Amino acid sequence: MLVLEPFISSSCQLPVANQPKPTHLNRINASGAMEIEVANCSKRGASTADDRDMVRGVYLAWQDLTVVLPNFGNKPTKRLLQGLSGYAEPGRIMAIMGPSGSGKSTLLDSLAGRLARNVVMTGNILVNGKKKRLEYGGVTYVTQEDVMLGTLTVRETLTYSAHLRLPSNLTGDEVKDIVEGTIMEMGLQECGDTLIGTWHLRGISGGEKKRLSIALEILTMPKMLFLDEPTSGLDSASAFFVVQSLRNIARDGRTVVSSIHQPSSEVFALFDDLFLLSGGETVYFGEAKMAVQFFAEAGFPCPSRRNPSDHFLRCINSDFDTVTATLKGSLRLRDKPSSSDPFTNMATSQIKAALVEKYRHSQYAKMAKARIQEISKIEGLEVEAISGSEATWLKQLITLTKRSFLNMCRDAGYYWARIVIYILVSICVGTVFYNVGYGNTAILARVACGAFITGFMTFMSIGGFPSFIEEMKVFNKERLNGYYGVAAYTLSNFLSSFPFLVTIALITGTITFYLVKFRSGFSHYAFFCLNIFFSITVIESLMMVVASVVPNYLMGIVTGAGIMGILMMTSGFFRLLPDLPKIFWRYPISYISFGSWALQGAYKNDFIGLKFDPLLPGGPKLTGEQIITQYFGVTVDRSKWWDLTAVVIILVCYRLIFFLILKTKEKASPFFQEIYAKRTIEHLDKRPSFRKIPSLSSSKRHQPLHSLSSQEGLNSPLN
Ligand SMILES: Nc1ncnc2c1ncn2[C@@H]1O[C@H](COP(=O)(O)OP(=O)(O)O)[C@@H](O)[C@H]1O
Ligand SMILES: [Mg+2]
Repeated sequence: MLVLEPFISSSCQLPVANQPKPTHLNRINASGAMEIEVANCSKRGASTADDRDMVRGVYLAWQDLTVVLPNFGNKPTKRLLQGLSGYAEPGRIMAIMGPSGSGKSTLLDSLAGRLARNVVMTGNILVNGKKKRLEYGGVTYVTQEDVMLGTLTVRETLTYSAHLRLPSNLTGDEVKDIVEGTIMEMGLQECGDTLIGTWHLRGISGGEKKRLSIALEILTMPKMLFLDEPTSGLDSASAFFVVQSLRNIARDGRTVVSSIHQPSSEVFALFDDLFLLSGGETVYFGEAKMAVQFFAEAGFPCPSRRNPSDHFLRCINSDFDTVTATLKGSLRLRDKPSSSDPFTNMATSQIKAALVEKYRHSQYAKMAKARIQEISKIEGLEVEAISGSEATWLKQLITLTKRSFLNMCRDAGYYWARIVIYILVSICVGTVFYNVGYGNTAILARVACGAFITGFMTFMSIGGFPSFIEEMKVFNKERLNGYYGVAAYTLSNFLSSFPFLVTIALITGTITFYLVKFRSGFSHYAFFCLNIFFSITVIESLMMVVASVVPNYLMGIVTGAGIMGILMMTSGFFRLLPDLPKIFWRYPISYISFGSWALQGAYKNDFIGLKFDPLLPGGPKLTGEQIITQYFGVTVDRSKWWDLTAVVIILVCYRLIFFLILKTKEKASPFFQEIYAKRTIEHLDKRPSFRKIPSLSSSKRHQPLHSLSSQEGLNSPLN
């Protein structure tokens, strides 16, 4: 057995290119050249020297890939993948097949360097012969769920994505050509101008959505493409079309690896290679058309009229044991089962175990091993990791801002609904406090009205949270693919929401200011509106911070509302600032609460310079300064503009926190993951019977929960 150096990876990602970046115009007019290359690529078993001459695509090989779900303490450790080896070559399309829960997604995730944080991977992944560990973003991966902005049309989605990622020196027409070419390639002409659809808008069909997902990924002509069950949920015609286009992509000299669930025979015939998995073990790996022969040799021939892929899954899906038992139960009443059918005589888990064992000693396994050796010797290629985008930062910022603005305009729930509510509530406030006046009761009314506007009305900004979460999902996906940076996203969000926030602040400010008749004068009006604008923006930013930590909208709203409640409570209206308990509430909470600054500013803006009726008749008139200092604990030695500045500083801090959280999530998680992986491996090393001898493990559909120490045959480089 090969002794491989453990390769602990959590952040491992594969480089997508190892060669001069393709000029995007090539695709349209250089198909002749491409074909020659394809012919070369499909020549199997070519010598390494040949490979060196022709390596234009990405050769991917993996050896002894094991993924474990560790469990500290004495509980069992679950193995999700068990010492898998295989390879993928340019010009060919590989299917990863297996029952659900067999580890298809886990294998794809390991290859693409996207494993979940709680699992640990060991083994080697070689990209063009080099053991690789990559930067954040850079692997093209079409995930099972389609994450897109539902408010955009198919063409718009592709165009924005193209502008985000293609080199900025391409002209608008060139980008348009690429987008149109991709639309044609994926057969999306029919629905080019249809909205993708949101929860309240019916949009394109599931098959079209899937094709759009793939189209988005092939825009930049990646050298390697991973797809997780691209055909699930599609009818067989759409599934065929999707896989057919994948095959065409592969024929262009790309490496395509896709997991697939129960393909029809037409779809199955499109695949070149097959990786058959069951319970994380290799049942078969090799050319797809040889699989039938392998099953026949192993004693489980595919009946002539059966779809081969159905037969394979039938042999390895242990769930059929239950099906057979049920069938037997009902058959017993009538007649005896025919003993010639191997499925009624043998449990599927036994069949599977026999196949796994058979494969391990078969010529297919030997051939695969030899080919992996060859591929791992490919040399002399600088594997350069390109990020998912070649556009300049400014171009990304402009594109993101435009796209986000369009999304906000079209999504009724993002700002429009809020604008309507703000108008209604402003009219209510304006009429309740109508023409508040200068009587001594007006003092409390003015204070309450000010507190309501800076406190409660800003609270309503929470309403856009679900829409923001939707946008964040798109961000997370695109960020994972490396389309753009966190800074560009943070800034673009601010810029695109700016017009809406200004509108809300102006509408609310104008209606309430003139109906209530606060202290008149343009500078007072301007301050009033600015104060509302910044308060609302602070709340928006706060909700963004919450969204980055709690990416679930119900939990997020609860968390956000809780934080806002605390900020409001310490703003100086419910309890005067000087009376707040000094420890904690006064210092530091009231200082970091935007509400306390906004409220002090609002009081100063309204009261200073006004005179009010005395509390007792005949007494001297009360001045505004007197009232806010004596009764409301606000110091007037600082101008209201300083209070506003404090709100702006808090706003900037929140945005920075948002930025830092997103950044740290990316940077820190690989670091922690590595520590976690190391600890797990040390822990596993201590287990005495962590043997190397391969053995037959009769696994059920999911691996039985035996501790690693009680399991044999972990062909892993761990020990
Ligand atoms: N991060 C994880 N934590 C715990 N269990 C996991 C994790 N990832 C996968 N699994 C388990 O591993 C098995 C294989 O999962 P998966 O690769 O998603 O299967 P498939 O894609 O073939 O349906 C399942 O039993 C699943 O519950
Ligand atoms: Mg899956």
